[in-house]
Amino acid sequence: MPEIILKSAEDIKAMRKACRLASKTLIEAGKMVEPGVSTLEIDDFVYNYTIKHHAIPAPLNYEGYPKSCCISVNEVVCHGIPSKKTILKDGDIVNIDITSILDGWHGDVNATFYCGKPSPDAINLVETTRRCLEIGIAQVRPDARIGDIGAAIQAFAEPRGFSVVRDYVGHGIGRAFHENLQIPHFGRAGHGLRIREGMTFTIEPMINAGDWRLHILDDHWTSVTNDRKWSAQFEHTLVVTKDGCEVMTAFDEPLVHSITPADFKF
Ligand code: MF3
Ligand code: CO
Ligand code: CO
Repeated sequence: MPEIILKSAEDIKAMRKACRLASKTLIEAGKMVEPGVSTLEIDDFVYNYTIKHHAIPAPLNYEGYPKSCCISVNEVVCHGIPSKKTILKDGDIVNIDITSILDGWHGDVNATFYCGKPSPDAINLVETTRRCLEIGIAQVRPDARIGDIGAAIQAFAEPRGFSVVRDYVGHGIGRAFHENLQIPHFGRAGHGLRIREGMTFTIEPMINAGDWRLHILDDHWTSVTNDRKWSAQFEHTLVVTKDGCEVMTAFDEPLVHSITPADFKF
């Protein structure tokens, strides 16, 4: 599928519904992030909530993936498999990544949550990553280049001592989970494809406290930093509009357990 699929107004209307369900599911799943809860309990909620809303959790059976969402704790970069053995503890940072399929359309969104009381280092990493996504989104408008997104993210993260993951990128999304469009979170401004109205893609920077290099565990999914330092991520699905973009997975209420501390400053 080499072409980039531009979406019509009608497509966007349908896809918006999938995106809204994904973000609503993430809001509710995030409320469960408390010490003592297993990541499997959160996954069970995600499965049931999705089915109840006449949708399908896209990760389930996707290329053999065994669960309904990804939950990535601390040094896990992404694709953490929910498990009854993974019990959240005070101070953890917990990324929940939700992808819903509704009426054949996909919505993909994730956020990193604080479990209990975070350390200052954890707050700095998570808030930097949250800002990286915002900065990436701010680059998106027709005639800008894909490289502008990654360049802006990199220019924010690296001077603060963080690194940007290279191995995973944002992606086109629509009727397929991963469409043929890649959005690196690093790169050079003015380079890469020209952004066009009607493109739909994710931006989902993974930012590491240490080095960007990672490896995959024997389960073939869980991606972990080589230096075991922590990693955070935020993701939205968006559509390019006439003069910017619409964040299709925007939240209609605050994310409990992922709120920027009132006294936080960069
Ligand atoms: N939701 C992830 C993304 O943002 C992909 C997860 S693939 C899975 O692209 F199979 F692990 F679910
Ligand atoms: Co994605
Ligand atoms: Co995702």
